[in-house]
Amino acid sequence: MSIPNHILDQLNSQADLVGIIGKHTTLKRAGKEFKGNCPFHGEKTPSFYVNPQKNVYNCFGCGVGGNAISFLRDYENQTFMEAVTELSRQTGIEIPKEDNRNLRYKRTPKKSVPPPQPSVAQPKAPSTTSSSSNSNGNSITFETNNGPNNNNLNNNSPSNSGSNNPNSAPIPDDSASAGYFDEASYYNSAPLADWDSGFYPEDFDPGMGSAPDYHSGSPYSQPQDSQQDSQEGDLYDLLMSISEFYQYNLRNNSRAMAYFKERGLTDSIIEEFKLGYAPSGWQHLEQAFPRDIEGLKALGLVRNSEKGRDYDLLRDRVIFPIRDNQGRVIAFAGRALDNEVNPKYINSSDSPIFHKQHVLYGYYESRQHRANDWLVVEGYMDVIALYQAGIYGAVASMGTAINESQISRLLQLNPTLTLCFDGDSAGQKAAWRTLEVALPVLSDDKELRFLTLPGGHDPDTYIALQGVEAMREQIKNAMPLSQYIFAYLSERYDLSLAEGKAKLMSQVRQLTNNLPKGSSFKYLLNNDIYQKLGGRKGQKNSAHDVLLDFDSDMTVSRMLELCLLFSPNLMQEDPIARIWQESGVADIELYPPRPKQKNKNTDEADKASAEAPVKPAVKVSASATKSPAKGAIQPPPLPSWQDFDSPSLVQLTETINALAPHLPKDTNAAAHFILANLPANQQHTLAKRWFPFWSNLNKRGIIDVDELFDDLLVQLMLQALSKQMSQFKNIIITSYLNRQRQTLLNWSKQQQAEQSSKMA
Ligand code: UTP
Ligand code: MN
Repeated sequence: MSIPNHILDQLNSQADLVGIIGKHTTLKRAGKEFKGNCPFHGEKTPSFYVNPQKNVYNCFGCGVGGNAISFLRDYENQTFMEAVTELSRQTGIEIPKEDNRNLRYKRTPKKSVPPPQPSVAQPKAPSTTSSSSNSNGNSITFETNNGPNNNNLNNNSPSNSGSNNPNSAPIPDDSASAGYFDEASYYNSAPLADWDSGFYPEDFDPGMGSAPDYHSGSPYSQPQDSQQDSQEGDLYDLLMSISEFYQYNLRNNSRAMAYFKERGLTDSIIEEFKLGYAPSGWQHLEQAFPRDIEGLKALGLVRNSEKGRDYDLLRDRVIFPIRDNQGRVIAFAGRALDNEVNPKYINSSDSPIFHKQHVLYGYYESRQHRANDWLVVEGYMDVIALYQAGIYGAVASMGTAINESQISRLLQLNPTLTLCFDGDSAGQKAAWRTLEVALPVLSDDKELRFLTLPGGHDPDTYIALQGVEAMREQIKNAMPLSQYIFAYLSERYDLSLAEGKAKLMSQVRQLTNNLPKGSSFKYLLNNDIYQKLGGRKGQKNSAHDVLLDFDSDMTVSRMLELCLLFSPNLMQEDPIARIWQESGVADIELYPPRPKQKNKNTDEADKASAEAPVKPAVKVSASATKSPAKGAIQPPPLPSWQDFDSPSLVQLTETINALAPHLPKDTNAAAHFILANLPANQQHTLAKRWFPFWSNLNKRGIIDVDELFDDLLVQLMLQALSKQMSQFKNIIITSYLNRQRQTLLNWSKQQQAEQSSKMA
């Protein structure tokens, strides 16, 4: 399958390259670019750059370079199609399908089509001109794109629009009505209430409604107008026609129009959002689009009952057409005119062209205004109210919670994103869920802000009551993420109690575990909350103080064990291997590199000597298992858990690794679960210290022992290297070990310097 170049360009330019690469190496902002250790070749000083404007990467060390597709292909080993599909998912850019059969449906041949039986009472025949009057007497302009006026409805004479049409759906008798009622369960998006609302069966009966007069030219087009006899329909065309049909019905229904007016919408907004009205008849779509039943069903707009009778999904509802990024109508949402009707909103179901989870309502419209400050809101009406107030950039998800890919797409457009939630408790829950969803995509350059409107308002009601300027002010003052987290949690827990503090801290810890690797936000958040809980001199030092409170025979490895009990997730990625990598020790070669001199001797390893190393560098990694050439110098592998002379530490790490998938989220519970799985004597020694350790951390508001853990672990790693040095006589090896030691030491000092600069 070939993909057009312009689509590939779009995918590459809209991909969140920093986020994609940031999953594999820590990137830090350096001017306009991001910089980090090259993920392709090991290195200890960063020479790998990502330019988010051009959306390319380059390594000045090993020379790799490319774009999002090449990174996924070369680094994540994805095939070209996998990379394209992944980027399409992340960006929402659709890949045109060569095989688009599923967008097409079979149309009923024209001849066999009976005259339609519109079910809507129409006060007045719409004219063929571009405006018609609604019953309020307001003249509303509308466009039709029906080109040469479609008229396959034109032979519908007034006389046969009554009840005696043999081809219309059978009129239900009482038993049929009962049958319908039973099928409510089959009809998953409408509850019984909707069936029970009184206009059935009367309204179902085509004979009961006086037919609208479509004769003088339909104000909405039929799909495939240009090819009247085409046997195949296109779902996009059909959706456009339906949208016009709904718009037309709005203009001719004073009650529906009054509804929008009461909600403060202007004619031009109604037009811009193509708002409409679905009449109350049970089969109005079939009647208006008699040749397109199959398409209507594919779109989920016409449902099929087990009794073989079809009916419309959206009846007597005002309609919000949902558009894709290109402005094509892809679905509809219908709102009941009466607040008491349940459900308030019904969305058309997923179809071959509507995938709820990728769509943001208001995105297309916002883009028309070059919006750049994105604001996620909860409802369709909020999007529209903000737009009408001149605040562009508001988008809403389709009645489901906004998901990670939608958030990451918006964060690509602007690294700052405001999430606005209703002030009611449902809104607050949604906000928290969204926060959890967003954390994994929140790399260092991104910022989330939270806005909760006062008094349980949503943007629509807030603007109506307080005005646009007040709304702008609210948006401007949205809370930064860390502040929001603290505000949210401190309302839920009593922070005057140690237990309340502990719960809050445990929640924060759970959250920060979801942040991307190397996120400095994690550090900042933990410290921020630590400060708010009354901490003074930095978490790491305070945590260390807690450990020093213990008996004097507390060894470094025992301290590490306690830290691991507190944060077992530290084992997710083997911390020793991580530190060897990050510090650059893993890249140190047995022979120091000799600059400028190209060495051609390749195989005479045993000629090597301390003064004249002539062999090309041999890379030694902790996992190297290849047997060395005969007589070659064999340096020791990088120390691992087994080399710290602490069987109990080894035991604990293994136990945590084994239990990892089953650990409870609560810190204390997880620690006890781990303890329970340790050998009896170890369990006893550790359990004795666990409780005072844990409660002391809580008392001091310490959320995070990660930095302390690294410090302690580095101490053990340095000790292990020193021990190896004392065991080897060969100067090549001891010099090699010494370089490892120095490198680790320097790295650790640098880490500490960075941490204290962040604290300042
Ligand atoms: P709300 O209940 O907050 O409604 O639902 P709203 O947006 O304020 O609606 P109005 O102002 O009363 O018209 C928020 C969103 O949740 C989805 C819709 O997307 C709605 O916009 N929703 C709500 C449904 O899908 N179905 C429902 O029954 C209710
Ligand atoms: Mn509302």
